[in-house]
Amino acid sequence: MSNQKKKRSGTVSNSPLPLAIVAIFGAAAGLTFIVAEHSPRATKSGIENSVPIVEAELSSETTTEVTATTAESTESTTLTTVSETTESKPLPPGSVTGIKLSFTDAALKVGDDPVMPLVTMTPAEADDKSEKWESTDEKVAKVDNLGNITAVGAGSCIVRVTSVNNPAVFAEVKVSVVDPNKTVTAKTKTADGTTTASQTGGNTETTTAANTAAENTRADMQVIDGITYFDGVMIVNKTYTLPQSYNPGGMTADTRAAFAELQEAAKADGLTITSVSDFRSYETQDTLYHNYVARDGQAAADTFSARAGHSEHQTGMAIDCNWAGDAFNTTPEAKWLAENAWKYGFIVRYPQDKEAITGFKYESWHIRYLGKEWAKKIYDSGLCLEEYFHIDSKYAE
Ligand code: DAL
Ligand code: ZN
Repeated sequence: MSNQKKKRSGTVSNSPLPLAIVAIFGAAAGLTFIVAEHSPRATKSGIENSVPIVEAELSSETTTEVTATTAESTESTTLTTVSETTESKPLPPGSVTGIKLSFTDAALKVGDDPVMPLVTMTPAEADDKSEKWESTDEKVAKVDNLGNITAVGAGSCIVRVTSVNNPAVFAEVKVSVVDPNKTVTAKTKTADGTTTASQTGGNTETTTAANTAAENTRADMQVIDGITYFDGVMIVNKTYTLPQSYNPGGMTADTRAAFAELQEAAKADGLTITSVSDFRSYETQDTLYHNYVARDGQAAADTFSARAGHSEHQTGMAIDCNWAGDAFNTTPEAKWLAENAWKYGFIVRYPQDKEAITGFKYESWHIRYLGKEWAKKIYDSGLCLEEYFHIDSKYAE
């Protein structure tokens, strides 16, 4: 079986009561529900409006149908369960079913000799153990068709090896690269980008070097333990990744406290703001993403769901508020967030009309904690984070 977990979905509507019932029912049935932002649904005629759904991770083979109601229409829409499209077919004898690497993290310096993880494919008697190697960012690290990984430039990326025989089977190396030719400073910043402390040595780099016109105005970039910061602000997008091992275990303390403050302020204005999805581990994101790919195809999924390691939800500083779907866009709560979230240290991370720059469709419900100082700067600038820091958000493939 591939690394995709099977997904089933429960009955949902866009009103809070059925959602609560689903959650209670699911909890009683021992299911783990993941509420995630979603999801333009691919149809023959294109992409439908977003239909919020609640997904349940199950290990059993039970299938459940999903009914969802959009705000735009009171008509019920029956969703195809993802499980039906991800059900694994029996593999032909001799197929590759597993793959392992001798290491999965590599901290490299530009100029170092290449490193090459040893690959073990299983079963041992598989007919075709050919490998396909690729890097998510060749400006950071290149990989040849034998798996030699060479550092190219400061940053982090993923090098993936896939079985040619069974492309559902792959393994990854998280590569972080520092460039000793660039300025190395002794400063480091907290994950929330709000304070500065001293640090000597370690995998810390600040670069002000510029290769392109856009990069001439770029903020200081640091890569610390495979995590990228611009001017001390942790950046996770289609270009900049988090290591698989990065797991704050939930919302960061600062994010939690700031969100409580935001909720109080909204309440004083007569509005209720809740979190429907905040921290998501690398593994949870991987499952979500691959289920969307199975349901909608990769091109569509890439517009609204981040690949594992590329989601801000893994930072513990992103929150989906109230309803993670287009139905939220026109609500008073969405308007309130757009106008007020910055006062509590948050920005609406994927604004309208910035899809080509952020890499993701408009998400009125997804807020990112930056701390009050940064949130005000970004809000006042009218720019999204990528514009503000002059950085890209693009998958390397
Ligand atoms: N929906 C955002 C982009 C995520 O998946 O992290
Ligand atoms: Zn989100």
